[in-house]
Amino acid sequence: MSGKIIITIDGGSSCGKSTLAKQLAAKLDYLYIDSGAMYRAITLYFLRNNVDFENVNQIKEALINITLEFIVNEYSNQSEIFLNGENVEYIIRDLVVAEKVSEVASLKDVRSFAVAAQQKMGKHKGIVMDGRDIGTTVFPDAEVKIFMIADEAVRVERRFREMFDKNPNITLDEIKANIEMRDYIDSHREVSPLRKAADAAELDNTNLTEKEQLDFALKLIKKTMKSTEIENE
Ligand code: DC
Repeated sequence: MSGKIIITIDGGSSCGKSTLAKQLAAKLDYLYIDSGAMYRAITLYFLRNNVDFENVNQIKEALINITLEFIVNEYSNQSEIFLNGENVEYIIRDLVVAEKVSEVASLKDVRSFAVAAQQKMGKHKGIVMDGRDIGTTVFPDAEVKIFMIADEAVRVERRFREMFDKNPNITLDEIKANIEMRDYIDSHREVSPLRKAADAAELDNTNLTEKEQLDFALKLIKKTMKSTEIENE
């Protein structure tokens, strides 16, 4: 496939967005950016520095002191997020961060900060980015947009399996409550709420294997690339 494009993957928590995004990025030799990790790293900084989420001056001041970078781990070949030079890829997955991230991600200044950084990363295309507002706000002109959904029970089970290895004390109820709370805040906030872009393809992966969902996305990408090439001829 010639001519790099932008691929956006949006959807609620634990719909399998990052699994698909990573596979696509590997297959196409594109950059994968986990936009949720950026909101999580900002939340971690706010919690560590006791930033008052209602104090706009404190928020603006904190954001000035935050530098986020994605660096590819040479052993795993996966990109990991660094907050002011510290690798925080694993610590940001903690429930302590998950409990506050949606609140932080709904702050106007936080969103402007993150969206500007994300748009810069996609300047040269060749990127797969997943999140909640990537196809609607960050890259409204992206060539391929996927909106993922899955039944809640399946999502809770998936997140539970993912978190259990790190924290065997975690319960299904805690995971369910966190997913429901985040989905509610993410889809009801004032700035860039979680929405399916009008031109996004919906992918329900409740009963799909990873291979089946990858095939769905690749088919869509091939179709778009073909029509883009024809338009440019
Ligand atoms: O994808 P995730 O679960 O790691 O995202 C963490 C939180 O960040 C999620 O609850 C909502 C927020 N988020 C957002 O508001 N916009 C994005 N583009 C990505 C994530």
